[in-house]
Amino acid sequence: MKILANDGISQTGVDAMQNEGFEVLTTNVAQEQLVNFINENEIVGLLVRSATKVRKDLIDSCPSLKLIGRGGVGMDNIDVDYAREKGLHVINTPAASSESVAELVFAHLFGGVRFLYDANRNMPLDGDSKFKQLKKNYAKGSELRGKTLGVIGFGRIGQATAKVALGVGMKVIYHDPFMDDASISLSFYDGQTIDFKFKSISKDELLKSADFVTLHVPAQKEYVIGKPEFEIMKSGAAIVNAARGGVIDEVALIDALEKNKLAFAGLDVYESEPSPEIKILMNPNISLSPHIGAATGEAQDRIGTELANQITTLLK
Ligand SMILES: NC(=O)c1ccc[n+]([C@@H]2O[C@H](COP(=O)([O-])OP(=O)(O)OC[C@H]3O[C@@H](n4cnc5c(N)ncnc54)[C@H](O)[C@@H]3O)[C@@H](O)[C@H]2O)c1
Repeated sequence: MKILANDGISQTGVDAMQNEGFEVLTTNVAQEQLVNFINENEIVGLLVRSATKVRKDLIDSCPSLKLIGRGGVGMDNIDVDYAREKGLHVINTPAASSESVAELVFAHLFGGVRFLYDANRNMPLDGDSKFKQLKKNYAKGSELRGKTLGVIGFGRIGQATAKVALGVGMKVIYHDPFMDDASISLSFYDGQTIDFKFKSISKDELLKSADFVTLHVPAQKEYVIGKPEFEIMKSGAAIVNAARGGVIDEVALIDALEKNKLAFAGLDVYESEPSPEIKILMNPNISLSPHIGAATGEAQDRIGTELANQITTLLK
């Protein structure tokens, strides 16, 4: 049976499927040639990330297809209900990248409290001539330990982020209207575990008490954080969005940064992705990354392995 991994897949995933006897094709076929390619090669499983679109017309035109797999979480690029109505399996790997996103949140937070996002911009320009001035500019750093992290959306990634925060010595509070309480088990390298219990608090309460706020909600119709929310945040607080563009109102964010209400922001996702607004890109107090939350070798290996396991269970 042939599997086409059209948007790439880790070697671990390829190996796992080949070990189970699948033939894995990793050619990147252009969208308009995909139907022909699938039919000519009698592809049984089509694996995609976010680039390839799997819409009704493709599903109708490819009778050999039995499975569509998304390496990652969001399945906006797949007509999931239609495919399932037609009897196809549709799978994804929702848990595989949680720790990677959580670590990226902390990359933004650790970098933020020591101004690394700005030092990295200015050291190449002035590091040799104005070293002492730069040293002074970045001298008033702070520590994360002992501070409060407010997590909005306490699902897989929210909880993975909370685990890192607990390890760093932060207090964790959360707001999630669909999860009144939660318990997290922190596992250490030597097998020891510690359990923590949490209760959801209101969004306002969280915003009033958090030193740092991190968002881990699914795509929403309305802003979760806009002008009124920034107003009730602590002065000098910071915010990270590695969830989805459109969760934070970027105009209100710029305003909060310009008025020094917020110390800094960390963004991995943008309202106008893939062309983020210049005002966001040029703001000196935003730590920027180009939607790379899940982009670690480890997460890609877990995605590949998880897809291979599900495919073996469903198709063999
Ligand atoms: N930056 C990246 O590369 C990257 C990678 C993977 C996932 N993500 C994004 O991260 C987000 C979270 O993913 P996840 O796997 O943790 O999802 P999840 O479904 O496990 O958790 C989401 C949580 O948000 C809660 N929630 C929903 N609406 C809310 C609201 N208005 N206020 C507060 N909580 C709310 C839900 O109850 C749920 O517990 C998603 O938006 C996903 O697209 C980003």
